[in-house]
Amino acid sequence: MPTCRLHALRADITTLAVDAIVNAAHPSLLGGGGVDGAIHRAAGPRLLEACRKLGGCPTGEARLTPAFELPARWVIHTVGPVWQGGAQGEDELLAACYRRSLELAATIGARSIAFPAISTGVYGFPPERAAPIAVAAVRAALAKAPTVEQVVFCCFSEASLRLHEMALGRSG
Ligand code: APR
Repeated sequence: MPTCRLHALRADITTLAVDAIVNAAHPSLLGGGGVDGAIHRAAGPRLLEACRKLGGCPTGEARLTPAFELPARWVIHTVGPVWQGGAQGEDELLAACYRRSLELAATIGARSIAFPAISTGVYGFPPERAAPIAVAAVRAALAKAPTVEQVVFCCFSEASLRLHEMALGRSG
């Protein structure tokens, strides 16, 4: 298995020409604000049509659609946990989002994938707690995603970028 490169960068995820970008979606998969809104706007109306056919997605799970007008080829829609104080299984559900997304990426033979900082916007997950969970979950799931050679943590702010760089540094 080739070594997989993990890195963080500051960017708008809708601009990345990777095989798959991950959307931080609503359980309905019918769009919203934040990164979800940006992805739907950039992909065009066919993305919503494709999402309607999926019939929603439970928290911690992931679903696949084409990326339509985006530079990426696929969108993996995952639903992060809403932060409720940390004792409602939020950490494990967040890790499951990264794990399930990578598993899905492997089913389409994706070699590159970009993640936003799932749950850290509208859903209120503390970003400093989420970043190390994201990095650890990706590292642990790579064995089940042998096609994936590059994982991008796509950060929207400088603060988020610093948190992901720290988490990447810590885990080697
Ligand atoms: N590219 C990359 N990251 C982005 C972008 C973008 N274009 N836009 C926002 N982000 C970042 C935010 O700054 C935040 O760090 O994505 C992270 C996740 O924030 P949200 O998009 O608010 O996602 P989340 O917290 O998981 O909430 C999901 O919000 O929009 C609704 O339908 C969505 O109900 C769902 C909920």
